[in-house]
Amino acid sequence: MTSVRDRPTSSPSSTPSATSSSRAKEPTGNPPQAESNFAVKLQQVNMVYPNGSRALIDVNLHVQRGSFLFVTGSSGSGKSTLLKLLYGAERPTQGDVIVNDLDLATLRGDRLSMLRRRIGIVFQDYKLIPKRTVSENVAFVLWAQGFNRKEIHRRLLPTLKMVGLHDKADRFPDELSGGEQQRVSIARAIVSTPPILLADEPTGNLDADNSWQVIKILKKLNTVGITVIVTTHDDRLVRMSNHPVVELRNGRLFKVPS
Ligand SMILES: Nc1ncnc2c1ncn2[C@@H]1O[C@H](COP(=O)(O)OP(=O)(O)O)[C@@H](O)[C@H]1O
Ligand SMILES: [Mg+2]
Repeated sequence: MTSVRDRPTSSPSSTPSATSSSRAKEPTGNPPQAESNFAVKLQQVNMVYPNGSRALIDVNLHVQRGSFLFVTGSSGSGKSTLLKLLYGAERPTQGDVIVNDLDLATLRGDRLSMLRRRIGIVFQDYKLIPKRTVSENVAFVLWAQGFNRKEIHRRLLPTLKMVGLHDKADRFPDELSGGEQQRVSIARAIVSTPPILLADEPTGNLDADNSWQVIKILKKLNTVGITVIVTTHDDRLVRMSNHPVVELRNGRLFKVPS
């Protein structure tokens, strides 16, 4: 895989890229807007669940395209809620959530689905389909997005190689270790080359070695241009990784000095 940045960061005066797909549909006469440098912007975000839980309080966060950010915090501090807002699984009670330059408040239906396709998501518990092989689990995402057989075939092997599972393509999830299952779920998240990858405690069920292996893969994906946001409460992993860190404490976000 080469760079996954679907659109180059361009200044307002530069020529729009030919791959600038979403811009192409804008009416003529409206010059295409340059994309911002930010993959994610949260502005004064508050999230109160219907039962009254205040999960996020006045959260402001700007994540530059191509960066790797850790979100730490103890259980219940709001990490999963933050990611859910980013992929549109929850909507904030107040404030703006802007992902890939799209304001999530304005997105419904197909447009929200389109944005979600541009975001890879990895969960602590892998969420693989048990009766499908590794290949099928990964290919399913592409099939669901309307990729043809040839394209699915073209993408499958390099993606499995990227996570070190090319020799386990025909295994079923219950024939794999936890670390391997998590690597399948990473393959599934990135096979459609999304520019943003969100991982919610991806190492939560793994031992130290497997955790580090997963983080190394996320780092590698970051080096090819994917913006990576990872939640964890494993301080040791964060210290080993040398990436920017923010911490949630009871729903409030703090920058952690490096
Ligand atoms: N669906 C929900 N309904 C009500 N409260 C919730 C819901 N999800 C999370 N919460 C509450 O919001 C707060 C933050 O939760 P969460 O984002 O899951 O934290 P973390 O991922 O850091 O453990 C907690 O107090 C939690 O109980
Ligand atoms: Mg959580």
